[in-house]
Amino acid sequence: MSVAQPAAGPVTVRVPAKVNVQLAVGAARPDGFHDLANVFLAVSLYDQVTATPAEELTVTCSGPDAAQVPLDRTNLAARAAELLGARYGIEPRVHLHIAKDIPVAGGMAGGSADGAAALLACDALWGTGASRAELLEICAELGSDVPFSLVGGAALGTGRGEVLTPLETGGTFHWVFAMADGGLSTPAVFREFDRLAEGREIPVPAAHPGLPAALAAGDADALAAVLANDLQAAAVSLRPQLADTLDAGLGAGALAALVSGSGPTTAFLTADAESADKVAAALLASGTCRTARTATSPSPGATVVS
Ligand code: C5P
Repeated sequence: MSVAQPAAGPVTVRVPAKVNVQLAVGAARPDGFHDLANVFLAVSLYDQVTATPAEELTVTCSGPDAAQVPLDRTNLAARAAELLGARYGIEPRVHLHIAKDIPVAGGMAGGSADGAAALLACDALWGTGASRAELLEICAELGSDVPFSLVGGAALGTGRGEVLTPLETGGTFHWVFAMADGGLSTPAVFREFDRLAEGREIPVPAAHPGLPAALAAGDADALAAVLANDLQAAAVSLRPQLADTLDAGLGAGALAALVSGSGPTTAFLTADAESADKVAAALLASGTCRTARTATSPSPGATVVS
């Protein structure tokens, strides 16, 4: 049996953003969550979290959106350190620095990514010897999207999104992400989904049967044909300008466009890197978004880099 050793110095973990290539949403459950069929794909926008021994638990953040990141115990990175420490009887005396590149409250699981990264970094720093299954359990306690941030690649999330089945991917998909001004609250978007669904029969959520094959083949046209987000109407209802952003990207040659998760970031699947650059330039010129970034997928999950 191998015994985990604490790390000698600071530990840095890199963690990807995600896009939901399908987000099928069921009816609200008694616990307030919604059953989902949530197909996650990790994309090459990354945060990095560095854990350093300290007198007490503190969080700092750098990057263009740093001012919008809470630095108290509501930050999922801080909660990850607390939960891991509580489970192993370790006082979470750690400083967590988040180098943030994933949009904040953008529907790309940026907060969840920081939770998964902090968990892995503290685990390495303290040498807890936690199994992968135990880490995934803590991730699920932190939030519905956190387990996927640890795992990366592509996966189907069921339950409230936290029960993961890995999916095969082939080749590289090329994306453009258009960031909007300000964020959208995930609970508010789910509430709007419920409001729009009132009086309607909501089917049990299921993944599109063509999705796994499109991902496995690396076939962008096939993936474009099945991209779907049941939260899109709710996000656009709360932020009608998103419809203009979606139109601008489609007009510039994107194969398909959708709101990423609960938004307000919008995602555009393109045929290749050249087309992605063209779509990003057109989105920037359209004035319908704050900024546009190209990225590829799949990306690996949270990984210790130093
Ligand atoms: O799990 P997480 O903390 O990320 O969820 C944030 C909020 O999003 C929940 O409190 C809930 O309002 C909503 N949500 C939901 N159904 C899910 C996941 C999230 O209603 N499957």
